[in-house]
Amino acid sequence: MSLQSNTGAPLIALRGVTKTYFAGRPNELEILHGIDLAVWPGEFVAIVGESGSGKSTIMNIIGALDRPTGGSYLLGGVDVERASDRQLSAIRNRKIGFVFQTFNLIGRTSAQKNVELPLLYAGVPARQRSARARELLELVGMSERAKHQPNELSGGQK
Ligand SMILES: Nc1ncnc2c1ncn2[C@@H]1O[C@H](COP(=O)(O)OP(=O)(O)OP(=O)(O)O)[C@@H](O)[C@H]1O
Ligand SMILES: [Mg+2]
Repeated sequence: MSLQSNTGAPLIALRGVTKTYFAGRPNELEILHGIDLAVWPGEFVAIVGESGSGKSTIMNIIGALDRPTGGSYLLGGVDVERASDRQLSAIRNRKIGFVFQTFNLIGRTSAQKNVELPLLYAGVPARQRSARARELLELVGMSERAKHQPNELSGGQK
């Protein structure tokens, strides 16, 4: 899984990660059974598996949105398990970009404003936010849809 890299450590390092839902017997349901994964800077990695196999579960852990039941997870050398809420917020805002299976767009808010939102949290001034969001929408051919709300967009546009 890992390519050669001249930096010392992988960017994303999972060791023996397990995830159990319905924690507590008799309904315990272990979804991840001890995942070891190393992703190095510059790598492009796809996680593939059948429906219900645990891809979203592991992505939620990698994205610092959920915690593993067991094992360890280091992101850029930071132990996510031990990170403070403040550190986790910074990680989510600056280190991780996430396109969810269920888009999580804000309804009754334009595509433009939805794209601006993470920049707002990052403290980017209004004019720069707006310009950057326009640029990004243009990149994906959505300049003409900037004012549309999520329910006025196609699945792919969302
Ligand atoms: N909150 C939960 N509580 C209990 N079981 C859950 C929960 N979330 C997911 N599961 C179960 O965990 C398994 C893995 O779910 P997950 O969403 O990670 O699958 P997936 O690989 O992303 O599937 P898909 O390709 O359909 O999106 C599924 O069998 C699901 O039923
Ligand atoms: Mg999924």
